[in-house]
Amino acid sequence: MSQVRIFNETDELYRTAAERIAHLSQLAVAREGRFALLLAGGNTPRRLYALLASPIYSIHIDWANTHLFWGDERAVPLSDPKSNYRMVSETLLSRVAVPWQNIRRIEGELPPEKAAERYEEELRQFFGLRGLAQPEGYATRFDLALLGLGADGHAASLFPGSPALQETARLVVAVPEADPPRVTLTLPAFNACAEVLFLAAGAAKAPALAAVLEGPPDLVPPAGRVRPEQGEVLWLVDRAAAALLQQRSHSNE
Ligand code: 6PG
Repeated sequence: MSQVRIFNETDELYRTAAERIAHLSQLAVAREGRFALLLAGGNTPRRLYALLASPIYSIHIDWANTHLFWGDERAVPLSDPKSNYRMVSETLLSRVAVPWQNIRRIEGELPPEKAAERYEEELRQFFGLRGLAQPEGYATRFDLALLGLGADGHAASLFPGSPALQETARLVVAVPEADPPRVTLTLPAFNACAEVLFLAAGAAKAPALAAVLEGPPDLVPPAGRVRPEQGEVLWLVDRAAAALLQQRSHSNE
């Protein structure tokens, strides 16, 4: 079951996300000595990353033991404004003390197949996995995955109709049909996370959000297929994105 929180103020949505991240980071570091965080690209999380870098939240996060990963990347050089790594670097990495060894980016400057292969290997090493046939990638247990929602219902670079959605063994694949081509983590990787936090803001996301949360199950867009078997999904959405939702069970803030 997904939990959905609807915010009248978009700023409150970002503050809630920052508080949740700080809280989960403390739990994970206390439990395992590290916090493995999967970051989202796109525009929506920019304000969240800036908030996390601000002293009010930053001091509550043990950056030295935080490990950062990306859920997807565009096949562009680091200098390109479309680079998700570059966006996180500008908003967050340049402002907090994460050790460089803990920053594990997808190499967008490489051919996507190569970058996907190398990132797969990097994830498998980090999580101590051997071989491809892990049951549904279960041991790839990020403590938290942040995700945005595309207006067509995509999440990370899992687009409607993409062959990447069929992947059951690999954790990372290339998405050559995208423009620019991309590299993305797969459903088995996302569905092994301990928690997934989706952020959706703005009216452009309303139809996709309604389709994901309340649409017919056989037509559910890719974002609705992110459902960790042993984890939680929390949607933080603003009033505009929630405009087409019918259910009253979603909590209004
Ligand atoms: C990316 C993303 C992608 C994004 C959605 C929403 O790299 O673009 O990971 O899945 O989250 O497209 O993007 P916006 O936040 O820009 O609307």
